[in-house]
Amino acid sequence: MKYRIDVNGAARDLDVPRGTTLLDALRDDLGLTATRYGCGRGQCGACFVLADGRAVASCLMSVEQAALHRIVTVEGLGDGERLDAVQRAFVDEDAMQCGYCTSGMLISATALLARQPAPEEDEIRDALAPNLCRCGVQLRAIRAVERAAREGR
Ligand code: FES
Ligand code: FES
Repeated sequence: MKYRIDVNGAARDLDVPRGTTLLDALRDDLGLTATRYGCGRGQCGACFVLADGRAVASCLMSVEQAALHRIVTVEGLGDGERLDAVQRAFVDEDAMQCGYCTSGMLISATALLARQPAPEEDEIRDALAPNLCRCGVQLRAIRAVERAAREGR
């Protein structure tokens, strides 16, 4: 089936079987491999992308559904080599270890700050709760989101 989806501000054409997940299309067909496969069941947050500004699990979204939304992946957050404020704050706070969960956390943080530019700590915790991290960087990730909110976007 042929589809056209809006990814990171550009129309991208796909020819994939019906029911293909957005995650598979991003990684395997469009080469956007920053979005990670974790559980494939909507339970880990590794595959999160923005769909019209909301953080969603791309492992649960079909390409058909994705065609109805503006999709942004981590590759679309910065500007070329220039990191955006959330990405920079994660680097400055050393909020990653193996990095497997980082893309999903960046997406959740970006969605939060778009709807709440000055979040309380419990709001940040809630926003990052779906993003599981085996390496234990959650506290640093919370500090990173606080920094990003402070330093503006
Ligand atoms: S891979 Fe999608 S939520 Fe885990
Ligand atoms: S930094 Fe390794 S899973 Fe989060």
